[in-house]
Amino acid sequence: MIITVTLNAAIDKSLAVPNFRLGRRHRTVEQRTMAGGKGVNIARTLKALGQPVIATGFAGGATGTHIVEQLTEESILNDFVRIRDESRTNTSVLDPTTGEQTEINERGPLVSEREVELFRDKLLYLARGAAIVVFAGSLPRGVEPDIYASLIRDLERMEVTTVVDTDGEPLRQAVRAEPDVVSPNVLEAEELVGHEFAGEEERSLVVVEIAALGPREAIMTLPDGCFAQVLIDGQRRLKRASIEPREPIAKRGSGDAFLAGYLAARYEGRAPDQCLRFGVACGAESTARLGAGLIDAREARRLMGDVELAVVELPAEVG
Ligand SMILES: Nc1ncnc2c1ncn2[C@@H]1O[C@H](COP(=O)(O)OP(=O)(O)OP(=O)(O)O)[C@@H](O)[C@H]1O
Ligand SMILES: [Mg+2]
Repeated sequence: MIITVTLNAAIDKSLAVPNFRLGRRHRTVEQRTMAGGKGVNIARTLKALGQPVIATGFAGGATGTHIVEQLTEESILNDFVRIRDESRTNTSVLDPTTGEQTEINERGPLVSEREVELFRDKLLYLARGAAIVVFAGSLPRGVEPDIYASLIRDLERMEVTTVVDTDGEPLRQAVRAEPDVVSPNVLEAEELVGHEFAGEEERSLVVVEIAALGPREAIMTLPDGCFAQVLIDGQRRLKRASIEPREPIAKRGSGDAFLAGYLAARYEGRAPDQCLRFGVACGAESTARLGAGLIDAREARRLMGDVELAVVELPAEVG
């Protein structure tokens, strides 16, 4: 079983509004709502890929009920801690005439200490039957930035594989807790190491720098694939996976699809190269779909053949 953690789960509302202009009144030509938040998106992709997954986190108020109902309707197993305050609704406006997308994310609920404790108990209980736990996305108010770090330490003792996809302070603290995998995108990686970088060589070294902070494996996604420092037979190896970038229909959530693909392959016991290949293929396939986490599993498997994989030499002082 794989467990995805979404502490700031949301209802994602997507509106299609032609000729969207600030300060005007508009009508939508199309709209859809889906349960969202990074962990929820990852769970959706994992389910589409045929892997056993349970989504957990916080859900509050009428919006929280809506999140749980939507997941249940999609047959995504879920077990959320119900909280008093209202979960978020995130609205995105897509203008089909320009392809431009505007996003407005609500601040999210305030979570009490008691609710955090209930969550901790629930996760440690669920994790007894799990091989992998994925922590994904931002934290709601009231939750300390060390929560991922402290849960990673607890799960390490239970021999559960831990995976983190977040940013800022929660990521900084999580890497020090030595999770098995972190997978920031370029911006998140730059923020973590505290400097920007340009060009292939500098970029490749960033995952080495990140892995040196604590995690066993570090992956940095890019719009055309990823750099990854992975362990092969206990040895550190630096890899570059790439795919021809496509004109995306919706880029949002492609990092979530990448991680779900990578973990699906890993859960099946595939070699690191195959995991990276499948991650990149799933990320790319998801850009053809409106709605985070949606994917065509067959098409993603076919795309694996288009992913190129190269070994990057580790610099001597860190190799
Ligand atoms: N234009 C594109 N063409 C093909 N594949 C893409 C494209 N954009 C993204 N991908 C795929 O998605 C993966 C993740 O991309 P990226 O680093 O942009 O994610 P992200 O910023 O974390 O996205 P999000 O947080 O919205 O999910 C890449 O590894 C790649 O496989
Ligand atoms: Mg991401």
